[in-house]
Amino acid sequence: MLHKKVAELLNQQINKELYSAYLYLDFSNFFIDHGLVGFGNWFKIQAKEEMSHADLFMQYLQNNNLSIELEAIAKPNIDLVDVRTPLVESLHHEELVTASIYGIYEAALEVKDYRTQEFLQWFIKEQGEEEKNANDLILQFDMYGSDKASLLQLDIYLGKRTFSAPSLDLD
Ligand code: FEO
Repeated sequence: MLHKKVAELLNQQINKELYSAYLYLDFSNFFIDHGLVGFGNWFKIQAKEEMSHADLFMQYLQNNNLSIELEAIAKPNIDLVDVRTPLVESLHHEELVTASIYGIYEAALEVKDYRTQEFLQWFIKEQGEEEKNANDLILQFDMYGSDKASLLQLDIYLGKRTFSAPSLDLD
């Protein structure tokens, strides 16, 4: 049986992952509206990744005989003033998610919940990758974004991103 506090934080993380998916769908729609369908694709795939993260948190709770309590997902309300804004905001958002996962890990450490610590190791590594991806996207945009031909090439490149299921398998 998981400690009540750890279980609560894990349950809250489901909402945070689903909100991440919602946020990235909003970014995806914004890029598509601005003719950057490759960037739109990149964020749509990111939204799918976030949904798969939510699914892993649900599975983990269920594997520990706990019920899920789904909460309302907030409306994304970031003011997207230009095409760079979603890139910067996605890095900020990933840093918040990392802090949230560290918070669960710390709670699990406190109550000697070794099982949850082991489960969260995958997410800690994943967050490192996601922060790097978000940062790389800003760097690429800053390098190529001001030249239309280069921006088009970058958009075509980002349009090739496909979804792959997470390497963590809890079944
Ligand atoms: Fe599931 Fe992007 O953190």
